Amino acid sequence: MLIGVSKETTPGETRVAATPATVVQLRKLGYEVVVDVGAGAKADFSDAAYLDAGASVGDALSADIVFGVNGPSVDQLDRLRPGATVVAILSPAFKPELVEDLSRRPITALAMDAVPRISRAQSLDVLSSMANIAGYRAVVEAAHAFGRFFTGQVTAAGKVPPARVLVAGVGVAGLAAIGAAGSLGAVVKATDPRPEVADQVKSLGGEYLSVASADVEISTTGYAKQMSDDYNARAAALYAETLPETDIVITTALIPGRPAPRLITAEMVAAMKPGSVIVDMAAANGGNVEGTVPGESVVTDNGVTIIGYTDLAGRLPAQASQLYGTNLVNLMKLMTPHQDGELVLDFDDVVQRSITVVRDGEPTWPPPPVQVSAAPVSAAATSGDAPALTVPRQSISTGRKLGITGVAAALLFALIAVSPTALQVHLSVFALAIVIGYYVIGNVHHALHTPLMSVTNAISGIIVVGAMLQIGHDNTAVTVISFAAILLASINVFGGFAVTRRMLAMFSRS
Ligand code: NAI
Repeated sequence: MLIGVSKETTPGETRVAATPATVVQLRKLGYEVVVDVGAGAKADFSDAAYLDAGASVGDALSADIVFGVNGPSVDQLDRLRPGATVVAILSPAFKPELVEDLSRRPITALAMDAVPRISRAQSLDVLSSMANIAGYRAVVEAAHAFGRFFTGQVTAAGKVPPARVLVAGVGVAGLAAIGAAGSLGAVVKATDPRPEVADQVKSLGGEYLSVASADVEISTTGYAKQMSDDYNARAAALYAETLPETDIVITTALIPGRPAPRLITAEMVAAMKPGSVIVDMAAANGGNVEGTVPGESVVTDNGVTIIGYTDLAGRLPAQASQLYGTNLVNLMKLMTPHQDGELVLDFDDVVQRSITVVRDGEPTWPPPPVQVSAAPVSAAATSGDAPALTVPRQSISTGRKLGITGVAAALLFALIAVSPTALQVHLSVFALAIVIGYYVIGNVHHALHTPLMSVTNAISGIIVVGAMLQIGHDNTAVTVISFAAILLASINVFGGFAVTRRMLAMFSRS
């Protein structure tokens, strides 16, 4: 099939839905790629670079699958071929008229911003990729408008205090902002109704400010619910107390499907020091701050700059395009099961169902809600007409488990029966060790797998030494088992080193 990468028509859009690097990956999946003339120009990707990557340059809208960053314009929709699939950020929850326009045509439309927040779908999560970039860029914009150091300094000419930054809302964008502000040397505080983010704030060097309200609760979805009046009143008191001492405020508060919660009033802004800066990341969605103008930077009467840019990710266009393009490649990997360049839409797959807005001209929006945690679905979540989609657990069934255990036990007994008496005791100990190891290691939390790996490496070392002592034994069975033990234990040891190396490389600056 042919994938078309369309040129964005939304004013001010700098991103493009595929880069030369992602074109190469799409071609590996069996697709041909055609790119509109100049589609990547604003992100510094020339037509020549796309040609070098194996794409052609021509009419992207005539392709079988059309990639875009924003939803297509009516003019673009009219040029799509029947049966085409459009993939873009469609915002179906906020643009019912676009959903109607799409469903009037014999096409399929997939909304990249509707990917459910489940671990399996993280590699396609466009909102997270963009929010991560935007959170970083929010700090850069704030630093530019602030016009002073972020880091504290002691110089011969005097002391410079560090900038004090408050981040309200610790989701993806909030965490990126905390990391960026902290690395510039600012003193960072952050608040969020979900108390489970406190550790994340701390791990980035920030201080978590909790709001003492009975309303806060561990979220099972990764999103906050709409907060009660009690919580909002206490949070308002916290902001009123903190803002006069704060230089930079970055607000990212969001409750999915609702207008942005209003956190900061004009009165609170008026109490801030002149020269302070607020970046309201929720500007496009109504704003967390009174006085925000979407897309603009305004200065209040008391000299506080409120930045309401809605294109923060697009202000780093090359990287935003690369991450968005990679999200699209990952979607194509999911939807191209045979890697043969043929797109297959599987409605039984929770991710593909969730992002489908229109299928062959039939509106399929909204999708059934997705249960994203192990917690039981609340009555409210399931009270609608559509049943909740659950993420299938890919565990082995009990029957299969029993079958595997039975076969393993039979093999072991057969081995014991033909073994010399001295070996029988060792084999029994070995079998018991497998059972105990299975239950002990199987119950270790994922977060502790790295320290666990060090312990297993130590055990593997003992196995290698023991097996080397036995490998020259007269009995062939002992020699074979020793060889297998050395091989498996060595794989564990060297595999452990390889994994550790990869993990360390992820943190290396080069
Ligand atoms: P997210 O859902 O990961 O995080 C939102 C956070 O807000 C959550 O941690 C939630 O608990 C918190 N929150 C909810 N109600 C709150 C309240 N009353 N007080 C304090 N915190 C509250 O969302 P993400 O992906 O981090 O995006 C954040 C915002 O940034 C969104 O509004 C998004 O639209 C916006 N955004 C803006 C961009 C721009 O260019 N301006 C670009 C990308 C995202």
